[in-house]
Amino acid sequence: MSNTWVLFDLDGTLTRSEEGIWNCAKYAAAKMGYPEPDAATLRKFIGPPLSWSFQNLLGMTPEEAARAQKYYRERYTTAGMYENRVYPGIRRVLRTLRSQGMQLGVVTGKPAYPTSKILEYFGLSRWFSTVVCATDGHAEKEALIARALPEDHGEVWMVGDRCFDMDGGVKAGVHTLGVLYGYGSEEELREAGAEKIARTPRDILSQLCPQAQGSRGFFVSMEGLDGSGKGTQLELLADLLDRFGFEVQRSREPGGSPIGEKIRDVLLDPANREMTAETEAMLYAASRAQHVREVIRPAVAEGRLLLCDRFADSSIAYQGGGRELGVDAVLDINRPAIDGTWPDVTIYLDIDHRRALARRVAASEPDRMEQEAESFHARVEAAYHELISRDPERFVTVNAEQSREEIAEEIRRRVLPRLMEAEN
Ligand code: TYD
Repeated sequence: MSNTWVLFDLDGTLTRSEEGIWNCAKYAAAKMGYPEPDAATLRKFIGPPLSWSFQNLLGMTPEEAARAQKYYRERYTTAGMYENRVYPGIRRVLRTLRSQGMQLGVVTGKPAYPTSKILEYFGLSRWFSTVVCATDGHAEKEALIARALPEDHGEVWMVGDRCFDMDGGVKAGVHTLGVLYGYGSEEELREAGAEKIARTPRDILSQLCPQAQGSRGFFVSMEGLDGSGKGTQLELLADLLDRFGFEVQRSREPGGSPIGEKIRDVLLDPANREMTAETEAMLYAASRAQHVREVIRPAVAEGRLLLCDRFADSSIAYQGGGRELGVDAVLDINRPAIDGTWPDVTIYLDIDHRRALARRVAASEPDRMEQEAESFHARVEAAYHELISRDPERFVTVNAEQSREEIAEEIRRRVLPRLMEAEN
């Protein structure tokens, strides 16, 4: 086991916390009867101690600033700390550094309570051997860094976005890496002694362990009948995964690659009435063969989370079930197309085909597939259920007849733990 330590600052380095900080500053100002701070003032709230900001940025007396701080904390500990995003790619950086045997730590000027809650909420705590926070208002980085390290440590890097992180690192006698995607400037970081600079989270890896092969990403697909609300849920899921620091790449089938999109046009054109079921199944598979090789595999190999609107299950359900080619026959057509590249997780939005139809009638100009009779969609639904019973491990089946918020919450509750488990 290597004895190299990499210590991370939290705000501006691991997470982008401004939304919560700004909302809480606005809330405290309103509670105190002060006008809403403008954007430029709010920006200055990130970094300095709160009491200083309330006095110097909003013009409060020390007594008022103390009361304002209480209001700020009241909102921060219930809502504000979760109005936060993990920078895209950070999860992969942490996973990869750990896989190289490095020890990781968090060194932050934040108090312990929000820090531990934030790290737990985003599923990051398991990667850190130590988390050192400010106590009794003492937040000097130099002292915090010294507290984080065991006596027999080897090489140490302090990674942060502000001069305080670099300066603390220099004084503590450790190496310093400044990141530019947070709240500090390159000039500020260099002046404070940054030895290396990372422009993106990915750059942290190229700076600290260029030889390491980054860890693999994920392939997640979403399936459901036309009218199941898939489009909305894909949007919400992409945003959620993005907030959690997965590098989300969206794609769709049929299509997803330039050649695939051309095939999509042929497939969905209502004028192509003579298309046989076999032709249709093979065209979907052809589009998929291109998509898998040109888009899906490279994205996953680079550590991204490829989120796909439909995949092979759609063919098996629509062509196998709907067109009655048979589930196994369509699986056979698709085998060479996907060549083992199945999604890690497939979310199925489960809705009765009659209810899905009722939702669809509102939509104008149905495409060739949507124009099919009710019995077609009944067979599609039945084939999906057959697929789920064959591969229950891969599918997360969600009742899509709930409200859009309930569906999104159920997806969040069931999919995030699966991904986090797979990260280990
Ligand atoms: P989709 O993109 O979900 O529809 P839209 O963008 O119009 O909302 O899917 C297009 C249609 O293609 C849909 O009716 C399902 C069908 N389809 C198949 O029949 N087989 C397949 O393999 C795929 C991927 C889609």
